Amino acid sequence: MIRFEGITKKYDGKPVVSDITLEISRGDLVVLIGQSGCGKTTLLKIINRLIKPTSGRVFIQGENIFDKNVIDLRRNIGYVIQQTGLFPHMTVRENIEIVPRLQKKNRAAIAEKSIALMQMVGLNPELFLDRYPYQLSGGQQQRIGVARAFACDPDIILMDEPFSALDPISRNQLQEELAELQSRLRKTIVFVTHDMDEAVKIADKICILHQGRIAQYDRVEAIMKNPASDFVAEFMGRNRIWSSPEFIRAKDIMIADPACTGADASILRCMEKMRLRQVDSLLVTDKAGCLQGIISAKQAQSQGDKSAPVFQVMQKEFETLSPDTNIVEILTLMNRHSAKALSAIPVTGENRRLEGLITRSSLLTTLSQPYLLDGDTNTMVYKEGLPCTF
Ligand SMILES: Nc1ncnc2c1ncn2[C@@H]1O[C@H](COP(=O)(O)OP(=O)(O)O)[C@@H](O)[C@H]1O
Ligand SMILES: [Mg+2]
Repeated sequence: MIRFEGITKKYDGKPVVSDITLEISRGDLVVLIGQSGCGKTTLLKIINRLIKPTSGRVFIQGENIFDKNVIDLRRNIGYVIQQTGLFPHMTVRENIEIVPRLQKKNRAAIAEKSIALMQMVGLNPELFLDRYPYQLSGGQQQRIGVARAFACDPDIILMDEPFSALDPISRNQLQEELAELQSRLRKTIVFVTHDMDEAVKIADKICILHQGRIAQYDRVEAIMKNPASDFVAEFMGRNRIWSSPEFIRAKDIMIADPACTGADASILRCMEKMRLRQVDSLLVTDKAGCLQGIISAKQAQSQGDKSAPVFQVMQKEFETLSPDTNIVEILTLMNRHSAKALSAIPVTGENRRLEGLITRSSLLTTLSQPYLLDGDTNTMVYKEGLPCTF
């Protein structure tokens, strides 16, 4: 949807953004994040041509934006900034309707749209449309800023630290509402912030900028799990994944080579295998590696005829997890079945292909990871800065 190709912007010969190449897909909310002065606003303003790059090109839908009429370009791009940019001498209605009126759209249609936009941003149209900006709280003004950006139904919305001046409660509310709005409308949104909590909450993808260059650009989960550099790991906060446990998935924490057996093996062989591998159950798979059943040590021992094939006695009904099941769901499942002493759950993919196994102890290892035993006090302490290994 939006493609930066080798974008550089220099002031007085000094680059503030250098050789940025970046592709933003349609319907994604991409967050540009980085320390103050790293070039976020500059990049954003290049998209709607408020800033002209020194070199490089930008394409929207394959069209070079510098070949386009700038008015047409901006008509398709909503823009929300921190200071709201609302005109103080105009009512909320006039502020929202300014561009549609300039476009000479049908009056009734414009009025109807204003009501819908107010509802979209959670403000009562009857109460607020005829007020002036100074009669609104900061949060309400910012909502109007968002409504105005959506007024012409643009494909692209640029947001430059829109919520940073708000109190934490309003900020949180607006972040949640934006995420909700975006899940319905699927606009292409480029959102600038310096707040990683905000980024993680709303972003599909995060682009971390460092001194005018891209330090990493990827989906939030991927950056958390595989930071490209120490800078990125520091910037994310090494243990941040623990504040978003839904990003920790079965495939990240499972035992990838659980002890298995074929269905024709005798019970005696299975018992031997369990002893050798020091496990208390075996997963029974067919030749294609698909899961057929489970045999536990207890079940094996209670069988009289140890020469019988395992498929005659194995358990065939049991829970399985998909590789993408997150740790919160896994814990819930384990808890629900704790009465039945469900100590391990196989992870299977398509056609019940065995991918791995989650055991109570593999879960415990994961959960205790950001904690270390403190030698002095002999207690488990939360260890900042410990690298996340998954
Ligand atoms: N008109 C300008 N003239 C000179 N330097 C500028 C100008 N605009 C921005 N800069 C510099 O470019 C750098 C990047 O600015 P900006 O994109 O606004 O950063 P950010 O939004 O990430 O805080 C900063 O060091 C800033 O001082
Ligand atoms: Mg800025």
